Amino acid sequence: MHELRYRKFFELMAGRSALIDLRKDKQTSLTEIARPIDWQALFGNENPVEIEIGCGKGRFLLEASRQHPETNYVGIERALKYVQRTKERLLKGKTTGVFLIWSDAAYLVDQYIGEDTVEAYHVYFPDPWPKKRHRKRRLFRNEVWLRGLVRTLHPSSGRIHIATDYAAYFYEIHACLTNTPPLVYLPPDSLEIEHIPTSFEIKYQAEGRKIYRAVYQMDSASHKA
Ligand SMILES: C[S@@+](CC[C@H](N)C(=O)[O-])C[C@H]1O[C@@H](n2cnc3c(N)ncnc32)[C@H](O)[C@@H]1O
Repeated sequence: MHELRYRKFFELMAGRSALIDLRKDKQTSLTEIARPIDWQALFGNENPVEIEIGCGKGRFLLEASRQHPETNYVGIERALKYVQRTKERLLKGKTTGVFLIWSDAAYLVDQYIGEDTVEAYHVYFPDPWPKKRHRKRRLFRNEVWLRGLVRTLHPSSGRIHIATDYAAYFYEIHACLTNTPPLVYLPPDSLEIEHIPTSFEIKYQAEGRKIYRAVYQMDSASHKA
C-alpha cells in the first residue's frame, strides 16, 4: 500500500498520462490501457524492451532505434512539450517503431509496467535539482521509482544506464543503486555497448564539462527481495 502522498500524486497523474502510437498517430489516455502494458501486443513482436526516462528532445530514441532495430524502445517523458518535440523528431526520421508515454516515470513504472519485462532503463541527465530544498524531488530519491526499477527489470540481464554532468548527483545515484540489491555496478570495460549522446550530452561536451556515466545490472546470482 502506498503512502498517502504517493496515492494523491498517482490520482493526479492518472489524468495526465497518455500512450502515443507513432504508427497510427494516435494518443490514448493511460486510463484506457490495460495494466500491465502488454509489450508483445503493443509492438507486435517479442523483442526486448528498453525504456528511456526523460527523453527530452528524443535524440537518444531516434539513434538507438536506428542502430538497434531488434530492440523495442519506449520513451517516458513528463513534459508534454518534449513529448511533442520527440514525436516530431521521430516522425521526421521515419521512426515509427518507438512508443512514447507522456507520464511521470515513478507512476508509470509502478502502475503500468509488468514484472521482469524490461531489458534496460536509460536515464540520461536526470534533473539534478541543485537547490537543497528541492533535492527531495530527485528521481533517485523516490522509493516508488527504485522499487519499480528492480521489480520490472529482467532478473538476470536487466540494466540501468546513467549519465550526468552533475558530479554530486552522480555519486548519490551510484551509492543508491549499489545499495539496491540485486543491482550491481558494471565496470565500464565490461560492456561492449557504444553510448549514444543525448542533446544534453552534446551541449555539455561542447562546453567542456565532464560527463559521468555508469551501468548497473541485475545480478543473476541474487534473487529479488
Ligand atoms: C535535463 S533533461 C534531459 C533530457 C534528455 N535525457 C537529454 O539528456 O538530453 C531531463 C528530462 O527529464 C524529464 N523528467 C524529469 N523528471 C521526470 C519524471 N519523473 N518522469 C518523466 N520525465 C521526467 C524532464 O521533463 C526533462 O525532459
